[in-house]
Amino acid sequence: MPINPVFLNGKWLSIDQAMISPLDRGFLFADGCYEVIPIYNQKVFRLSDHLQRLEYSLQSLGIDSGYSNKDWVELFSHLVKQTDDKNYKSYIYLQITRGVESKRDHIVKEAIVPTVFCYAENTATLNDLPEAISVTLQEDIRWHRGDIKAISLLGSVLARRQAMDEGYDDCIFYRDNEIVESSSSNLFIVEGGVVKTPPLSNWLLGGITRLVLLELLEKYRIPFSVEPISVEQLHHASEIWLSSSIKELIPVRQIDGQLISNGEMGEVLKKIWDCWRQYIHSYSENQIESKLT
Ligand SMILES: Cc1ncc(COP(=O)(O)O)c(C=O)c1O
Repeated sequence: MPINPVFLNGKWLSIDQAMISPLDRGFLFADGCYEVIPIYNQKVFRLSDHLQRLEYSLQSLGIDSGYSNKDWVELFSHLVKQTDDKNYKSYIYLQITRGVESKRDHIVKEAIVPTVFCYAENTATLNDLPEAISVTLQEDIRWHRGDIKAISLLGSVLARRQAMDEGYDDCIFYRDNEIVESSSSNLFIVEGGVVKTPPLSNWLLGGITRLVLLELLEKYRIPFSVEPISVEQLHHASEIWLSSSIKELIPVRQIDGQLISNGEMGEVLKKIWDCWRQYIHSYSENQIESKLT
């Protein structure tokens, strides 16, 4: 649940009072983008990476938010203070749409001010790896610009619902026999002892968790490769996991009913989980990135 008050267009309001016009282009056309930024121990996680991705999304959509990095930092500092100091993990949700127009029209003919909505939420701390999930493979029905963190998530919503209706927890998308990502996370496999993840492209989101994991693989000299992964490779992988800001790392135990490493937790993932937890703890104790201006 969002912590009150939430931020909407320069005002701090209770969530019940935060209203937007039905002529907002976010509502009419899903014309906007968003960010989800973890907070550990009241420190914003990898702020500059999240701000860089936000800027990339805004630029790709041609939206000028009117906010500088300094403005975002000031806003996030307020949100951080709202979080429970005894709750180790929280996150910031930020959504920016092109704004409210006077008449519904695909083409924006007038100068409009973007709508900015932002709040913080406390979440459960993940001390142990989340329970392993079952997934199904689905052809990627989403659009060609998965690299933009756009609010138009209908493709993912429908795919996830279909997966759940069929008794799976989530789905993994493929295109032309190549693995892309999951409905709301990136994907890693282990093949022949080497950790592999698909390269960034217009089809998938450049996850910040993925980025940190690649840094950790490098730092701890765990063999890895960023390369295209085929559907066959996925089926033969000895380990598979998903990565995202909210869920961190999620082991996959089954694909379309086929068990991965006999449904057991893989050794490589165990090691990476330890490196990840260590990184998160030292980050939340030492870093001062939330002071970025
Ligand atoms: C489609 C998709 N891919 C990957 C990710 C992982 O990104 P991050 O690690 O920055 O949360 C997300 C997160 O929401 C996502 O929606």
